[in-house]
Amino acid sequence: QKRVGILTSGGDCGGLNAVTRAVVRRARDYGFAIYGIKDATMGLLSRPVEAELLDTKRVSSILRYGGTILGTINKNNPFAFPMPDGSLVDRSEEAIEGYHRLGLDALIGIGGDGSLAILDKLARQGNWNLVGVPKTIDNDVGTTEHSIGFHTALSIAVEALDRLTYTAISHSRVMVLEVMGRDAGHIAIGAGIAGGAHVILIPELPYSLEKVCEKILERKEQGNNYSIVVVAEAVKTESGEPVRYTNSLGQTLYGGIGHYIGNEISKRTGIETRVSILGHLQRGGTPSALDRLFGAAFGVAALDLVAQNKFGRMVAWQNRRVVDVPIAEAIAQYRSVELDGALVETALGLNTYIGEVDRP
Ligand code: F6P
Repeated sequence: QKRVGILTSGGDCGGLNAVTRAVVRRARDYGFAIYGIKDATMGLLSRPVEAELLDTKRVSSILRYGGTILGTINKNNPFAFPMPDGSLVDRSEEAIEGYHRLGLDALIGIGGDGSLAILDKLARQGNWNLVGVPKTIDNDVGTTEHSIGFHTALSIAVEALDRLTYTAISHSRVMVLEVMGRDAGHIAIGAGIAGGAHVILIPELPYSLEKVCEKILERKEQGNNYSIVVVAEAVKTESGEPVRYTNSLGQTLYGGIGHYIGNEISKRTGIETRVSILGHLQRGGTPSALDRLFGAAFGVAALDLVAQNKFGRMVAWQNRRVVDVPIAEAIAQYRSVELDGALVETALGLNTYIGEVDRP
Protein backbone atom coordinates (compact mmCIF):
# COMPACT_ATOMS: atom_id res chain seq x y z
CA GLN A 1 0.00 0.00 0.00
CA LYS A 2 1.52 3.31 -1.11
CA ARG A 3 1.57 6.33 1.18
CA VAL A 4 0.83 9.44 -0.86
CA GLY A 5 1.04 13.01 0.42
CA ILE A 6 -1.00 15.86 -0.99
CA LEU A 7 -0.49 19.57 -0.42
CA THR A 8 -1.78 22.87 -1.77
CA SER A 9 0.77 25.66 -2.14
CA GLY A 10 0.58 29.36 -3.02
CA GLY A 11 -2.60 31.42 -3.18
CA ASP A 12 -5.86 29.57 -2.63
CA CYS A 13 -8.54 29.49 -5.31
CA GLY A 14 -11.76 27.78 -6.31
CA GLY A 15 -11.49 24.06 -7.11
CA LEU A 16 -8.65 23.00 -4.79
CA ASN A 17 -10.94 20.87 -2.64
CA ALA A 18 -12.29 19.16 -5.75
CA VAL A 19 -8.74 17.93 -6.46
CA THR A 20 -8.22 16.72 -2.89
CA ARG A 21 -11.56 14.89 -2.92
CA ALA A 22 -10.85 13.25 -6.28
CA VAL A 23 -7.41 12.06 -5.14
CA VAL A 24 -8.86 10.51 -1.98
CA ARG A 25 -11.74 8.85 -3.83
CA ARG A 26 -9.45 7.46 -6.55
CA ALA A 27 -7.05 6.15 -3.89
CA ARG A 28 -9.71 3.66 -2.75
CA ASP A 29 -9.36 1.85 -6.09
CA TYR A 30 -5.63 1.35 -5.49
CA GLY A 31 -5.74 0.89 -1.72
CA PHE A 32 -3.38 3.85 -1.21
CA ALA A 33 -3.28 5.94 1.97
CA ILE A 34 -3.53 9.69 1.38
CA TYR A 35 -1.93 12.14 3.80
CA GLY A 36 -3.07 15.75 3.62
CA ILE A 37 -0.05 17.91 4.48
CA LYS A 38 -0.93 21.10 6.29
CA ASP A 39 -0.16 24.58 4.96
CA ALA A 40 1.93 23.65 1.93
CA THR A 41 5.58 22.94 2.79
CA MET A 42 5.06 24.39 6.28
CA GLY A 43 3.59 21.02 7.27
CA LEU A 44 6.80 19.30 6.13
CA LEU A 45 8.92 21.77 8.12
CA SER A 46 6.96 21.17 11.34
CA ARG A 47 8.07 18.55 13.85
CA PRO A 48 6.20 16.32 14.12
CA VAL A 49 5.27 16.72 10.47
CA GLU A 50 1.75 18.12 10.27
CA ALA A 51 -0.33 15.78 8.13
CA GLU A 52 -3.71 14.13 8.37
CA LEU A 53 -4.82 10.77 7.01
CA LEU A 54 -7.69 11.58 4.66
CA ASP A 55 -10.56 9.21 4.08
CA THR A 56 -13.61 9.58 1.88
CA LYS A 57 -15.73 10.66 4.84
CA ARG A 58 -13.34 13.57 5.55
CA VAL A 59 -13.57 14.81 1.96
CA SER A 60 -17.27 14.19 1.57
CA SER A 61 -19.06 17.27 0.20
CA ILE A 62 -15.93 19.47 0.18
CA LEU A 63 -15.90 20.01 -3.58
CA ARG A 64 -18.41 22.82 -3.18
CA TYR A 65 -16.33 24.67 -0.55
CA GLY A 66 -14.03 27.55 -1.40
CA GLY A 67 -10.42 27.62 -0.15
CA THR A 68 -8.53 24.45 0.70
CA ILE A 69 -9.15 22.15 3.65
CA LEU A 70 -5.40 21.46 3.69
CA GLY A 71 -4.48 25.08 4.27
CA THR A 72 -1.92 26.87 2.15
CA ILE A 73 0.68 29.56 2.37
CA ASN A 74 2.28 31.99 -0.02
CA LYS A 75 5.83 33.28 0.14
CA ASN A 76 7.26 30.35 2.15
CA ASN A 77 9.96 29.09 -0.17
CA PRO A 78 12.00 26.56 1.89
CA PHE A 79 15.08 27.53 -0.15
CA ALA A 80 14.74 31.14 1.04
CA PHE A 81 12.54 30.88 4.10
CA PRO A 82 11.63 34.24 5.63
CA MET A 83 12.66 34.44 9.30
CA PRO A 84 11.07 36.86 11.82
CA ASP A 85 14.18 39.10 11.71
CA GLY A 86 13.73 39.54 7.94
CA SER A 87 16.58 37.24 6.93
CA LEU A 88 16.13 34.39 4.45
CA VAL A 89 17.30 30.92 5.45
CA ASP A 90 17.66 27.72 3.41
CA ARG A 91 15.41 25.13 5.08
CA SER A 92 15.13 22.82 2.09
CA GLU A 93 16.80 19.85 3.84
CA GLU A 94 14.24 20.04 6.67
CA ALA A 95 11.37 20.02 4.17
CA ILE A 96 12.93 17.10 2.32
CA GLU A 97 13.35 15.20 5.58
CA GLY A 98 9.68 15.88 6.39
CA TYR A 99 8.62 13.89 3.31
CA HIS A 100 10.82 10.96 4.34
CA ARG A 101 9.73 11.13 7.99
CA LEU A 102 6.14 10.69 6.82
CA GLY A 103 7.31 7.62 4.92
CA LEU A 104 5.81 8.89 1.67
CA ASP A 105 6.11 7.00 -1.59
CA ALA A 106 4.88 9.99 -3.59
CA LEU A 107 3.63 13.55 -3.25
CA ILE A 108 0.91 15.34 -5.20
CA GLY A 109 1.67 19.06 -5.18
CA ILE A 110 -1.04 21.47 -6.28
CA GLY A 111 0.46 24.84 -7.13
CA GLY A 112 1.10 27.62 -9.61
CA ASP A 113 4.34 28.04 -11.56
CA GLY A 114 6.25 29.41 -8.55
CA SER A 115 5.17 26.64 -6.16
CA LEU A 116 5.66 23.91 -8.76
CA ALA A 117 9.20 25.14 -9.44
CA ILE A 118 10.02 25.00 -5.71
CA LEU A 119 8.46 21.54 -5.28
CA ASP A 120 10.26 20.27 -8.37
CA LYS A 121 13.58 21.52 -6.98
CA LEU A 122 12.88 19.85 -3.61
CA ALA A 123 11.93 16.63 -5.41
CA ARG A 124 15.17 16.56 -7.39
CA GLN A 125 17.32 17.38 -4.38
CA GLY A 126 15.51 15.05 -1.99
CA ASN A 127 14.59 12.11 -4.17
CA TRP A 128 10.86 12.69 -3.94
CA ASN A 129 8.35 11.17 -6.32
CA LEU A 130 6.37 14.25 -7.33
CA VAL A 131 3.23 14.73 -9.41
CA GLY A 132 2.09 18.31 -10.05
CA VAL A 133 -1.40 19.74 -10.49
CA PRO A 134 -1.66 23.28 -11.94
CA LYS A 135 -3.69 25.81 -10.03
CA THR A 136 -3.78 29.57 -10.17
CA ILE A 137 -6.44 32.14 -10.83
CA ASP A 138 -3.84 33.80 -13.10
CA ASN A 139 -4.05 30.84 -15.57
CA ASP A 140 -0.43 31.40 -16.54
CA VAL A 141 1.04 27.90 -16.04
CA GLY A 142 2.52 26.71 -19.32
CA THR A 143 1.38 23.63 -21.29
CA THR A 144 -2.15 23.62 -19.85
CA GLU A 145 -5.16 25.48 -21.19
CA HIS A 146 -6.77 25.52 -17.76
CA SER A 147 -5.39 25.85 -14.26
CA ILE A 148 -7.67 25.27 -11.28
CA GLY A 149 -9.18 28.52 -9.99
CA PHE A 150 -9.12 30.63 -13.13
CA HIS A 151 -12.68 29.99 -14.12
CA THR A 152 -14.05 30.86 -10.65
CA ALA A 153 -12.05 34.10 -10.57
CA LEU A 154 -13.22 34.98 -14.06
CA SER A 155 -16.87 34.48 -13.11
CA ILE A 156 -16.47 36.69 -10.04
CA ALA A 157 -14.81 39.44 -12.09
CA VAL A 158 -17.61 39.30 -14.67
CA GLU A 159 -20.22 39.52 -11.93
CA ALA A 160 -18.40 42.55 -10.53
CA LEU A 161 -18.44 44.19 -13.96
CA ASP A 162 -22.18 43.57 -14.27
CA ARG A 163 -22.72 45.25 -10.92
CA LEU A 164 -20.45 48.16 -11.80
CA THR A 165 -22.24 48.69 -15.11
CA TYR A 166 -25.58 49.42 -13.39
CA THR A 167 -24.06 52.01 -11.08
CA ALA A 168 -22.00 53.47 -13.95
CA ILE A 169 -25.15 53.97 -16.03
CA SER A 170 -27.09 55.44 -13.09
CA HIS A 171 -24.39 58.05 -12.35
CA SER A 172 -23.01 58.63 -15.86
CA ARG A 173 -19.57 57.63 -14.68
CA VAL A 174 -16.49 55.79 -15.76
CA MET A 175 -15.92 52.72 -13.60
CA VAL A 176 -12.46 51.18 -13.38
CA LEU A 177 -12.10 47.61 -12.10
CA GLU A 178 -8.65 46.36 -11.12
CA VAL A 179 -8.42 42.58 -11.28
CA MET A 180 -5.68 40.16 -10.20
CA GLY A 181 -3.03 38.56 -12.36
CA ARG A 182 0.48 38.79 -10.95
CA ASP A 183 2.22 38.71 -14.32
CA ALA A 184 -0.45 37.93 -16.89
CA GLY A 185 -3.66 39.51 -18.14
CA HIS A 186 -5.84 36.40 -18.61
CA ILE A 187 -8.42 37.43 -16.02
CA ALA A 188 -8.51 41.02 -17.30
CA ILE A 189 -9.01 40.19 -20.97
CA GLY A 190 -11.43 37.32 -20.27
CA ALA A 191 -13.55 39.31 -17.81
CA GLY A 192 -13.30 42.45 -19.93
CA ILE A 193 -14.75 40.71 -22.97
CA ALA A 194 -17.38 38.74 -21.07
CA GLY A 195 -18.31 41.77 -18.95
CA GLY A 196 -18.55 44.19 -21.87
CA ALA A 197 -15.67 46.51 -20.94
CA HIS A 198 -14.75 49.31 -23.32
CA VAL A 199 -11.11 49.49 -22.31
CA ILE A 200 -9.00 46.49 -21.20
CA LEU A 201 -5.42 46.96 -20.06
CA ILE A 202 -3.14 43.95 -19.69
CA PRO A 203 0.57 43.72 -18.79
CA GLU A 204 1.36 42.07 -22.12
CA LEU A 205 0.60 45.25 -24.10
CA PRO A 206 1.77 48.86 -23.79
CA TYR A 207 -1.00 51.43 -23.74
CA SER A 208 -1.58 55.12 -24.27
CA LEU A 209 -3.61 57.09 -21.73
CA GLU A 210 -4.50 59.46 -24.52
CA LYS A 211 -6.11 56.61 -26.46
CA VAL A 212 -7.88 55.36 -23.33
CA CYS A 213 -9.42 58.80 -22.89
CA GLU A 214 -10.18 59.13 -26.60
CA LYS A 215 -12.19 55.92 -26.41
CA ILE A 216 -14.15 57.18 -23.41
CA LEU A 217 -14.82 60.59 -24.96
CA GLU A 218 -15.78 58.99 -28.26
CA ARG A 219 -18.37 56.90 -26.41
CA LYS A 220 -19.70 60.02 -24.73
CA GLU A 221 -20.00 61.82 -28.07
CA GLN A 222 -21.95 58.83 -29.38
CA GLY A 223 -24.46 59.27 -26.57
CA ASN A 224 -23.17 56.62 -24.16
CA ASN A 225 -23.24 58.04 -20.66
CA TYR A 226 -20.81 55.56 -19.10
CA SER A 227 -17.69 53.51 -19.76
CA ILE A 228 -16.16 50.46 -18.16
CA VAL A 229 -12.41 49.96 -17.85
CA VAL A 230 -10.71 46.74 -16.68
CA VAL A 231 -7.08 46.85 -15.67
CA ALA A 232 -4.87 43.94 -14.60
CA GLU A 233 -2.97 44.57 -11.35
CA ALA A 234 0.39 43.98 -13.05
CA VAL A 235 -0.11 46.80 -15.56
CA LYS A 236 2.51 49.51 -15.09
CA THR A 237 2.12 53.26 -15.35
CA GLU A 238 2.29 54.66 -18.85
CA SER A 239 5.97 55.39 -18.33
CA GLY A 240 6.64 51.82 -17.18
CA GLU A 241 6.73 52.14 -13.37
CA PRO A 242 5.31 49.14 -11.47
CA VAL A 243 2.63 50.11 -8.95
CA ARG A 244 3.31 48.13 -5.78
CA TYR A 245 3.54 48.70 -2.09
CA THR A 246 5.36 47.06 0.74
CA ASN A 247 3.35 46.17 3.83
CA SER A 248 4.49 46.16 7.45
CA LEU A 249 5.67 42.54 7.08
CA GLY A 250 7.99 43.57 4.28
CA GLN A 251 5.87 41.85 1.62
CA THR A 252 5.65 43.56 -1.75
CA LEU A 253 2.08 43.51 -3.02
CA TYR A 254 0.09 44.73 -5.99
CA GLY A 255 -2.90 47.04 -5.72
CA GLY A 256 -3.24 50.57 -6.98
CA ILE A 257 -2.78 50.74 -10.74
CA GLY A 258 -6.57 51.13 -10.96
CA HIS A 259 -6.37 54.37 -8.98
CA TYR A 260 -3.63 55.68 -11.23
CA ILE A 261 -5.69 54.92 -14.36
CA GLY A 262 -8.88 56.32 -12.78
CA ASN A 263 -7.19 59.56 -11.75
CA GLU A 264 -5.71 60.06 -15.19
CA ILE A 265 -9.10 59.46 -16.82
CA SER A 266 -10.96 61.96 -14.62
CA LYS A 267 -8.14 64.53 -14.94
CA ARG A 268 -7.97 64.28 -18.74
CA THR A 269 -11.69 63.85 -19.57
CA GLY A 270 -13.40 65.71 -16.73
CA ILE A 271 -15.72 62.70 -16.31
CA GLU A 272 -16.39 61.41 -12.79
CA THR A 273 -14.52 58.16 -12.37
CA ARG A 274 -14.63 55.58 -9.59
CA VAL A 275 -12.24 52.72 -8.96
CA SER A 276 -12.79 49.27 -7.43
CA ILE A 277 -10.04 46.82 -6.60
CA LEU A 278 -11.47 43.30 -6.67
CA GLY A 279 -8.52 41.68 -4.89
CA HIS A 280 -8.99 38.46 -2.97
CA LEU A 281 -12.72 38.31 -3.63
CA GLN A 282 -11.60 36.60 -6.83
CA ARG A 283 -10.16 33.72 -4.86
CA GLY A 284 -12.98 33.09 -2.43
CA GLY A 285 -16.54 31.85 -2.62
CA THR A 286 -18.09 28.82 -4.21
CA PRO A 287 -15.94 27.18 -6.90
CA SER A 288 -17.43 27.32 -10.39
CA ALA A 289 -18.71 24.20 -12.14
CA LEU A 290 -15.72 24.16 -14.50
CA ASP A 291 -13.15 24.43 -11.70
CA ARG A 292 -14.85 21.49 -9.99
CA LEU A 293 -14.74 19.54 -13.25
CA PHE A 294 -11.08 20.31 -13.96
CA GLY A 295 -10.25 19.68 -10.30
CA ALA A 296 -11.93 16.27 -10.34
CA ALA A 297 -10.29 15.31 -13.64
CA PHE A 298 -6.83 16.45 -12.49
CA GLY A 299 -7.16 14.70 -9.11
CA VAL A 300 -8.06 11.34 -10.66
CA ALA A 301 -5.33 11.67 -13.30
CA ALA A 302 -2.70 12.68 -10.72
CA LEU A 303 -3.37 9.58 -8.64
CA ASP A 304 -3.27 7.41 -11.75
CA LEU A 305 0.21 8.78 -12.46
CA VAL A 306 1.29 7.80 -8.96
CA ALA A 307 -0.10 4.30 -9.52
CA GLN A 308 1.87 4.06 -12.78
CA ASN A 309 5.05 5.34 -11.06
CA LYS A 310 5.21 8.26 -13.50
CA PHE A 311 6.87 11.06 -11.60
CA GLY A 312 8.21 14.54 -12.27
CA ARG A 313 5.05 15.04 -14.33
CA MET A 314 2.26 17.60 -14.17
CA VAL A 315 -1.30 16.88 -15.25
CA ALA A 316 -2.50 19.33 -17.89
CA TRP A 317 -5.58 20.05 -19.98
CA GLN A 318 -4.98 20.04 -23.71
CA ASN A 319 -7.58 19.72 -26.48
CA ARG A 320 -10.33 18.31 -24.24
CA ARG A 321 -8.04 15.69 -22.69
CA VAL A 322 -6.07 15.35 -19.50
CA VAL A 323 -2.45 14.71 -20.44
CA ASP A 324 0.78 14.75 -18.45
CA VAL A 325 3.87 16.79 -19.20
CA PRO A 326 7.27 17.18 -17.51
CA ILE A 327 6.90 19.67 -14.65
CA ALA A 328 10.08 21.42 -15.83
CA GLU A 329 8.51 21.96 -19.27
CA ALA A 330 5.34 23.44 -17.77
CA ILE A 331 7.40 25.87 -15.69
CA ALA A 332 9.63 26.83 -18.60
CA GLN A 333 6.70 27.56 -20.92
CA TYR A 334 5.14 30.38 -18.90
CA ARG A 335 1.80 31.33 -20.51
CA SER A 336 1.05 35.01 -21.12
CA VAL A 337 -1.96 36.30 -23.03
CA GLU A 338 -1.27 35.25 -26.63
CA LEU A 339 -1.09 38.48 -28.63
CA ASP A 340 -2.07 36.61 -31.79
CA GLY A 341 -4.72 34.58 -29.98
CA ALA A 342 -8.51 34.50 -30.12
CA LEU A 343 -9.14 36.80 -27.17
CA VAL A 344 -7.05 39.69 -28.46
CA GLU A 345 -8.73 39.29 -31.87
CA THR A 346 -12.13 39.23 -30.20
CA ALA A 347 -11.45 42.37 -28.18
CA LEU A 348 -10.22 44.16 -31.31
CA GLY A 349 -13.24 42.93 -33.22
CA LEU A 350 -15.48 44.40 -30.55
CA ASN A 351 -13.70 47.73 -30.97
CA THR A 352 -12.45 47.56 -27.38
CA TYR A 353 -9.27 49.48 -26.63
CA ILE A 354 -6.74 46.94 -25.35
CA GLY A 355 -3.51 48.87 -25.77
CA GLU A 356 -1.09 49.39 -28.60
CA VAL A 357 -1.48 46.26 -30.71
CA ASP A 358 0.91 45.84 -33.56
CA ARG A 359 -1.36 45.09 -36.52
CA PRO A 360 -0.98 45.89 -40.22
O1 F6P B 1 -1.08 34.18 -8.11
C1 F6P B 1 -2.36 34.32 -7.62
C2 F6P B 1 -2.56 35.68 -6.99
O2 F6P B 1 -3.90 35.78 -6.57
C3 F6P B 1 -2.18 36.84 -7.90
O3 F6P B 1 -3.17 37.13 -8.85
C4 F6P B 1 -1.94 37.92 -6.88
O4 F6P B 1 -1.04 38.90 -7.35
C5 F6P B 1 -1.33 37.18 -5.74
O5 F6P B 1 -1.73 35.84 -5.85
C6 F6P B 1 -1.72 37.70 -4.38
O6 F6P B 1 -1.04 36.97 -3.42
P1 F6P B 1 -1.30 37.14 -1.85
O7 F6P B 1 -2.56 36.38 -1.53
O8 F6P B 1 -0.12 36.53 -1.23
O9 F6P B 1 -1.45 38.58 -1.58
